[in-house]
Amino acid sequence: LPLTAEVRDDHLFVGGVDMVELAREQGTALYVMDEADMRARMQSYLRSFRSRHENSAVVYASKAFLNKEAARIVNAEGLCLDVSGGGELACALAAGFPADRIFMHGNNKTPQELREAISAGVGRIIIDSRIELGRISQIAGELGVEQVVYMRITPGVEADTHQYIRTGCEDSKFGFTMRDDFAYRCVHDVLAAPNVRLAGLHCHIGSQIFALHSYPEAVEVMVDLMARIKQGYGVELGELDMGGGLGVAYTAADKPASIDEFAETVTAAVRAACEKHGVPLPRLLVEPGRSLVANAGVTLYTVGIIKTLPGIRKYVAVDGGMSDNIRTALYHADYEPVIANKAAHPRTEIVTIAGKHCESGDAVVVDMPMQRPDLGDIVAVFGTGAYNHTMSSNYNGQPRPAVVFVKDGEARVTTRRETYDDLMARDV
Ligand code: LLP
Repeated sequence: LPLTAEVRDDHLFVGGVDMVELAREQGTALYVMDEADMRARMQSYLRSFRSRHENSAVVYASKAFLNKEAARIVNAEGLCLDVSGGGELACALAAGFPADRIFMHGNNKTPQELREAISAGVGRIIIDSRIELGRISQIAGELGVEQVVYMRITPGVEADTHQYIRTGCEDSKFGFTMRDDFAYRCVHDVLAAPNVRLAGLHCHIGSQIFALHSYPEAVEVMVDLMARIKQGYGVELGELDMGGGLGVAYTAADKPASIDEFAETVTAAVRAACEKHGVPLPRLLVEPGRSLVANAGVTLYTVGIIKTLPGIRKYVAVDGGMSDNIRTALYHADYEPVIANKAAHPRTEIVTIAGKHCESGDAVVVDMPMQRPDLGDIVAVFGTGAYNHTMSSNYNGQPRPAVVFVKDGEARVTTRRETYDDLMARDV
């Protein structure tokens, strides 16, 4: 639930705003973000890490959720920003996000994207391959600048999560592999490349991680590599970026670690590994996306059709689906729906909330408990703040929903709903 969610007179309120009224005013499907929730989590990340590791920074992974207002908020809260391509970079810059606090990621950034990033002056580019090193070196040379970079390492750690979002294991398209000491040998090339300065190492072991033990394992691999780089190349790398991945609760059954536990695990592991390998404490960075914004988000839908298949299931069809939330179809993700205009009623039914798209796999939730639905009810689905808007599509010609931020009883549209004209705007 968003931090400010509450029930008043049987209606769901978020940020002091009545979700039923908001749905009537703005139409559905609608993305709602609880601004106080986002800001509070950003501050707890900063506090949790800074209190344990003074020289640390939190880099928001904007692939989880981004629009200009989100970028402004992340900037105001003092976090850095991870962009995974030219589009996210353009949005951040348009929102006035300072380029020197932007980190650019991606396993196949195009030469054009690299040029955009380097000429904007992004603080760090995370190099993913040797081919990319050559491109960065050349473009920085042409632009007459020195680009600060990290190397992305694949530490060979299997994080305990869905295979589609596991990224640190040996068989991965991301980063420099530790196999046959390839990553260590490539450090030579990065150090030798003109117009490039290697400041640190990066890894990201996966996403929606519940069991934190993979982090100390990855830290050990990374700090060991830093120590060997110091010994072998005489270069002390001062920065270590451990990526994101902390899981969130989508249902009451999910018990993720807290931000504090995550910070404790990572910072303690870094301290221990640095002591063991005799390297100074680096500047420590983490790159959370989901755990900053998922719980702040609520999607509102209107119930349009109800079909009861006796002995099989009850289908409740809403005016959105896989176009605004692909996660259920893609990862069998679970969500807990509530009827926003019956929020105090008991959950007496097991329902499948289907979307309006032409696929049987198009569901928002499958067999979850909910209040008894009627046509015209407003369904609120919690936990949709991350990887929903950013993974949305126009499948079946569906215009994307608006994004409304709510705070202190006020609602403001931060991204307007798409129109049919928007859908055709690129057609010639
Ligand atoms: N850093 C890097 C380099 C990443 O690739 C990611 C996520 C993050 C940070 C942030 O990870 P987080 O804290 O959000 O777990 N679409 C999937 C998630 C894909 C995550 C991709 N990378 C989903 O909806 O579950």
